Amino acid sequence: MTLRHFLNTNDWSRAELDALLQQAARFKQSRLGQQMAGKSIALLFFNPSMRTRTSFELGAFQLGGHAVVLEPGKAAWPIEFAPRAVMEGDTEEHIAEVARVLSRYVDLIGVRAFPKFQQWEVDREDLVLKAFAQYSTVPVINLETITHPCQELAHILALQEHFGTLDKKKYVLTWTYHPKPLNTAVANSALLIATRFGMDVTLLCPTPDYVLDSRYMELAKANAAESGGSLTISHDVETAYTGADVVYAKSWGALPFFGRWEQEKPIREAHRHFMVDEAKMALTNNGVFSHCLPLRRNVKATDGVMDSPACIAIDEAENRLHVQKAVMAALLAQR
Ligand code: CP
Repeated sequence: MTLRHFLNTNDWSRAELDALLQQAARFKQSRLGQQMAGKSIALLFFNPSMRTRTSFELGAFQLGGHAVVLEPGKAAWPIEFAPRAVMEGDTEEHIAEVARVLSRYVDLIGVRAFPKFQQWEVDREDLVLKAFAQYSTVPVINLETITHPCQELAHILALQEHFGTLDKKKYVLTWTYHPKPLNTAVANSALLIATRFGMDVTLLCPTPDYVLDSRYMELAKANAAESGGSLTISHDVETAYTGADVVYAKSWGALPFFGRWEQEKPIREAHRHFMVDEAKMALTNNGVFSHCLPLRRNVKATDGVMDSPACIAIDEAENRLHVQKAVMAALLAQR
C-alpha cells in the first residue's frame, strides 16, 4: 500500500477533507480518544511556533499517544538535505538517516520548515518537506512549509461553524502590512481551501508583485472551476471589501523581491493602510474576520476588529487541536 502523507490538502479528495472535518467536529465535542494509544509523533520545528506545537502535543496526549519535539540545529543536530553532499560544513547528519531513524521510533513525523527567503525558485521546491516524505517510512504531516494545510482545515471548520455551507460566500484574502516580509504559506493555503469549498474568492493585494506563486494561483483556479466558486485578483480595497462574507488577513513578501527585500520595503511601507479596520469591515455583508495568528495588533488589524464579535480567529486557533487530531487518527488508521 502506498504510504499516505498529509503534505497538501489538494492531495486529498473533497470527500476525504469532509470526513476529516466531521471527525474534527466530533473531537471538539468529545476530546479524549484512544486513536493514538501506544503511538507517537515526532514534531520537527526548524522555525518557532506556539499554536502548532501546543495543539499537536496536546492532541497526541488526548488521543492516548505521545509527542516528541525536536528543534534541529538547536537541541538536535543540524540536518543536511542536499543529495551527495560532502558534509564539511555545519550539518552533522543527513536527512537519509534522520528520517529513517525517526521512522523506527515513531508512527508519525511532523515538519515545520519555512522558506529561507533568499531564492523563491529554490524555496518553492519545498525540499525539506519532500526529503522527509522521501526517506520516512511513516506518514509525514506538513506543519507549515510553503503551505499550511492544518491551518486550512481549522479555518474551514471555523467558517462552517459560523455559516454552515460555504458555497458562493464572498471570501476576501487581504494582504496586510508587516515590518518584515513573511512566508506566503498561509496565503497560498487560504486560496487553495477557499476555492475548494466553493467560495467566490478575491485576492486583495497592493500591486501585481504581491500575487502569489503561479502554481497556487493555477491550483486555486482549478479548484474553483471544480467547486463552482471563483477566483479574482483586486488591488482596490473598497471594491474587494464591499459585500464580503469573510475577510482573511495575512502579510507576505512579494515573490519577485526574494533576496533583495530592501527594494520591496518601500512598497510595503506605502500600503500600511491595508490594515483591517472597523471602516473596512463596515463595508462587508456583516462579514467575519479571521487570521491564522500570531498577529501584530494595530499593524495588521485594529484592536476594534480583533475584539469585535466578527473576529473568529480564536475559534480557528482552537480548531487546530481538533483537525490535527483528525489528521493524525486518519493517517494512523491506514497502517
Ligand atoms: N498559526 C500558526 O501556525 O501558529 P504558530 O506559528 O504559533 O504555530
